[in-house]
Amino acid sequence: MHLVMISCTPRAVKASNTAKILEKFREGYESVGNTTETYYLAERKSWEQIRVAYYENEQVLFALPLFVECIPGIMMEFLESLDYERLAQMQKKHVAFLVQGGFAEASQLRCCEKYLNMLPAYLNAEHMGTLIKGDMFSVSIMEGDARKKMIAPFVQMGKLYAEEGHFDKEKVSEFAKPEYFSKRIILLSGLFSPLRKLVMQGMAKKLGCKGSLMAKPYQRYVN
Ligand SMILES: Cc1cc2nc3c(=O)[nH]c(=O)nc-3n(C[C@H](O)[C@H](O)[C@H](O)COP(=O)(O)O)c2cc1C
Repeated sequence: MHLVMISCTPRAVKASNTAKILEKFREGYESVGNTTETYYLAERKSWEQIRVAYYENEQVLFALPLFVECIPGIMMEFLESLDYERLAQMQKKHVAFLVQGGFAEASQLRCCEKYLNMLPAYLNAEHMGTLIKGDMFSVSIMEGDARKKMIAPFVQMGKLYAEEGHFDKEKVSEFAKPEYFSKRIILLSGLFSPLRKLVMQGMAKKLGCKGSLMAKPYQRYVN
């Protein structure tokens, strides 16, 4: 089987969490004798090539970061650039999604998952399921073994998708756990809040942030 994988983040490939996760997914998918080709919407000059790959292939995976509870604008822009008359005349494609987000609870991704349940019908495609996973914010910040450990589970999910041809709802929920934090974790999280703030400040600095994390630059525009 040949799978076209489209990364739908506006973030540059080098800095993107989606790209790193997709690379692991590819490893698993190809480990059982399949082939893939990967495209990045962040590379706008390749959109025509991506559209051709989309029209000409039967199996497609859209991989995206969760942006404000749903899909990134760049993905919507790309989908709007497809030729829907042409799609309507074509054989139904098999379309699946991989969504990863920053917040750890799977419940944070459920709204987007619901939207993605509807989307393939608009593309004259069959929905092959959606893989969701939170807590991925720091993939690009982590280095070495810490990063490897974070994204290694996607190898297994790539292999599973290759073997089963779809994302099984129950297996996805198991993979995406926790659905909600337990009361104990919420309590502990409150206790460790000062430490977490320090870690976040360190991360922000690494990402090039020079101002305070408490800055509210748009506050003056709010009544
Ligand atoms: C504009 C923006 C909005 C985001 N909204 C959410 C969100 O609603 N929920 C969430 O869990 N993570 C959210 N995130 C975090 C990203 O989904 C997460 O960091 C992801 O791993 C980024 O992948 P990328 O590096 O490939 O873009 C947001 C990030 C950005 C930049």
